[in-house]
Amino acid sequence: MTEKIRHFIDLDYFSKIDFRNLLNSCHQRKNSKIRNGKAEIDDDASAQDKILAMIFEKPSTRTRFSFETAMYQLGGKSIVINSKDMQLNRGETISDTAKVLSRYVDIVMLRTNEHSSILDFSVSSSVPVINGLSDLSHPCQVVADLMTFEEILGPIESKVVTWFGPGNNMTHSWIHAASLLDFELRICAPGDYLPNSAIVEKAKNEGAKILETDDPKKAATGSNCIVTDTWFSMGDKEDSSKREVLSEFKVTNKLISLADDKVIFLHCLPAHRGEEVDSEVIDGPHSYVWDEAENRLHAQKGIIDWCLKSN
Ligand code: CP
Ligand code: NVA
Repeated sequence: MTEKIRHFIDLDYFSKIDFRNLLNSCHQRKNSKIRNGKAEIDDDASAQDKILAMIFEKPSTRTRFSFETAMYQLGGKSIVINSKDMQLNRGETISDTAKVLSRYVDIVMLRTNEHSSILDFSVSSSVPVINGLSDLSHPCQVVADLMTFEEILGPIESKVVTWFGPGNNMTHSWIHAASLLDFELRICAPGDYLPNSAIVEKAKNEGAKILETDDPKKAATGSNCIVTDTWFSMGDKEDSSKREVLSEFKVTNKLISLADDKVIFLHCLPAHRGEEVDSEVIDGPHSYVWDEAENRLHAQKGIIDWCLKSN
């Protein structure tokens, strides 16, 4: 029987049970070890003798450092390259690149402008491919966000998460998560900046509880988690009319005060204080953004482990 390659491209590729197992394994790996040093290799060295390649078409701080550290702590090695330094930049095809890299490394992470590049790469790759952010989605980040939520507030099932700001790659991965885990996702954005309607409809058809609204007070009321992101994703043109329309969707202490008493604030970072969030929120008592950033490391380890296991 041929083994299925475990690509980690989007959360909606998972069944509910498989996704819950993945999330639990991330929690478990984080909690099962008291680390003596950041370069200490985990007892099971589950990626020993394995190599991860990372190709970046866009900048990164967290994704790059967390994946590289994760691979190190799992006992493996990583190779990082900017796509500008590859023959890809001189016209070599994605398909040929995928076939060649599959002969060198055991797993590939891609951060691309276009989501289709990740899909194209995965079709020709004989090793697992991880989506390290595309214009469509950012699944690794949402695994870290879900870990953070559950560490602070317990199981996310039956809780309320509210997204503030324009629909983007992060929103789409949150929507995918809402069809896998039984929580309510409120998306608070102006009508012209809602997330991809096909992704929302598909999730709703799968039973996801999603509310789209342009009323910030309604969206924040009783929420357990308020999450936002930059108003201009990498590659977006900054435009002042968008900034103006979004100004009432900024996360402020006033909005936080409408939420549940124990509400947590999340942001994938990098943040723009005074734009999508006030500094008194992101640097205040409800903010868990540093735990969230740390959890990128623990999430990557769970994701790498999952990819390296064959079905
Ligand atoms: N949140 C996130 O993906 O950060 P980087 O762009 O720094 O990798
Ligand atoms: N939506 C942001 C996320 C950055 C981690 C972007 O794509 O730039």
